[in-house]
Amino acid sequence: MSVIDEIKQKLDIVEVVSEYVSLQKSGRNFKALCPFHAEKTPSFFVFPERQSWHCFGACGTGGDIFSFLIKKEGLDFSQALRLLAEKANVTLAAPSSMQKGAEDKKTENLFQINEAAAEYYHHLLLNASAGETARNYIAQRGISLQTIKNFQLGFSPEGWEVIRQYLVSKGHEETELLAAGLILEREGGGSYDRFRNRLMFPIRDIQGRVVGFGARTLDESLPKYINSPQTLIFDKSSSLYGIDRAKTAIRRDNLAIITEGYMDVLTAHQHGIENTVAAMGTALTEKQISILKKLTKNLIQALDADAAGKQAISRSGEMVDKVLPVPPSVDGYGWVKYEDAQGVEVKIIILPPGKDLDEVIREDASQWQKLIADAKPMIDFILDTAIAEVNLGNAKDKSSVVEKLLPLLSEMKDPIRQDHYIQKLAQLLKIDEGAVRDAFARFRAIEKKRRRNKDFRSFTPVIPALFSSSPVEEYCLALLLQFPELRLEDMRLQPDYFEHSGNRELFLKWQQNDEYVSLKNSLDSTLHEYLDNLLAKTFPPSLKESKVEQQQALNDCIVRLQEKRLRSLEAKKEELLAMEAETGGLAAQLAKLEEQGIEESKQLKEVFSKQGHRHQPAARRSE
Ligand code: UTP
Ligand code: MN
Repeated sequence: MSVIDEIKQKLDIVEVVSEYVSLQKSGRNFKALCPFHAEKTPSFFVFPERQSWHCFGACGTGGDIFSFLIKKEGLDFSQALRLLAEKANVTLAAPSSMQKGAEDKKTENLFQINEAAAEYYHHLLLNASAGETARNYIAQRGISLQTIKNFQLGFSPEGWEVIRQYLVSKGHEETELLAAGLILEREGGGSYDRFRNRLMFPIRDIQGRVVGFGARTLDESLPKYINSPQTLIFDKSSSLYGIDRAKTAIRRDNLAIITEGYMDVLTAHQHGIENTVAAMGTALTEKQISILKKLTKNLIQALDADAAGKQAISRSGEMVDKVLPVPPSVDGYGWVKYEDAQGVEVKIIILPPGKDLDEVIREDASQWQKLIADAKPMIDFILDTAIAEVNLGNAKDKSSVVEKLLPLLSEMKDPIRQDHYIQKLAQLLKIDEGAVRDAFARFRAIEKKRRRNKDFRSFTPVIPALFSSSPVEEYCLALLLQFPELRLEDMRLQPDYFEHSGNRELFLKWQQNDEYVSLKNSLDSTLHEYLDNLLAKTFPPSLKESKVEQQQALNDCIVRLQEKRLRSLEAKKEELLAMEAETGGLAAQLAKLEEQGIEESKQLKEVFSKQGHRHQPAARRSE
């Protein structure tokens, strides 16, 4: 099960879920309105420590990141696996040739559909009478016809089924259009176009294939931009707008400029600054950096003055990550280590107040060249911003800022670089360099001690087996796989008794396939070895011979799985109850949870009584 575990280890469920749901911190956990059903008070919770989610409302379901994506994106297990592996930078073993064929065909299809849509939208922008407003708008923004053509800008007309009708008439299936994110399903059945009355920006990957779209409003309605949803071929956080047209210039200039928006890229390119791409409004991600890194090690990120004007380092000493182009997993202090590890240097440009890159360039392209020349390395930016807040007349302020910055300097591998910044810090604060060095040495000593303690602590597993599969789940699957008669029994077993997504997937596929070859073919190849291991698991001879014993063993498993599930649900609820009580949470919510809690304990009692009925200590077995 190792790839699945590896992915879970590398990704944070909070981050993954946040891409779809706006989470609100609630004690140690997060809550939100459930994305799977309509509701007014949040009953959807994410538990970072367990790396799981649960809806305590109408859905009553939960699971891990895999089940979340499967449910939210309508993906199958393989697709979710591939998507998350990509996100986590985990390499999957090559899929079996049959699976690969099917997969390739699916993605190939999506590329074709997007290409056809981009061409059609482009055609409408240039020719349709309904496209006139859009044409005027672009002209007024100073975008030339050549730029429109280079970037294949388009227009999606008002109307609910323009793109659907067009693409269906070209022989594409509605399910494929859904998978491409071009249309949406209507609740009562049927579907409608996602993009209506908008200026269309096809987003391409580095090879020039259309992976998705950005769509700007033409009538100032909100949101200003709608983007394609996450699909098999589109993940906003790993795309860079304009990369296909910028890559040659980035290599040539040995420099990439990262800006915020679609419009900035158009204007930059139109003015001959072709090494420009956009991170599309989000903090730069590791995935985006890894694309750029293959072209150049020198990155410049343009930030607007509002964002940069905010404190770069918060009072508690953490980086305000939305402000700086820092991947969410890297805090300010981790930045140096990160740059070292990635082998890149990121510089920052602060745009003049109230302007974005688009306006700066249109006003005066030479002003932009000057800003590029003056770009500040990230570390200097952090130092300068932190020190700018300090009242140099106040001794205490000075020492607290030194304290804040020491961890950053301490991360630097290169002693010359480190020395440079120690000097700089002393100069900026107008204090003796020796004093900074002393403080630095003290910090290092404490740090070293802390690390030792931490290493020691990390040897004791806090939550054992959080990521590894569960023995009882595995035992249960091995029984099912090896004793075909069990299939005939009235099955109380349900997919969500399996907490581990790999096991859940295996169970689902086992239900649908009663023969090894078809089961294996229906499974993602990452699970093949696991399947074979389960089949090779040995059971005592008595069990092999007696159907009655097999049935009993399965019953036993079911009860234990049920118990495990209820226990974990209870623990989650208890935690939430405690937290709601602490924060004076909504009384109604408290009552609701309590009521459900009673329901769970009732079920749990039933489970125990069933266990006691058959034989005693099943509940005490270690698991
Ligand atoms: P901006 O608001 O700066 O947009 O957002 P812009 O590209 O400069 O557009 P104009 O100049 O107002 O026409 C920067 C980027 O953030 C993303 C888009 O990628 C946008 O280009 N964004 C912004 C969204 O995805 N959704 C939004 O609602 C807003
Ligand atoms: Mn703009």
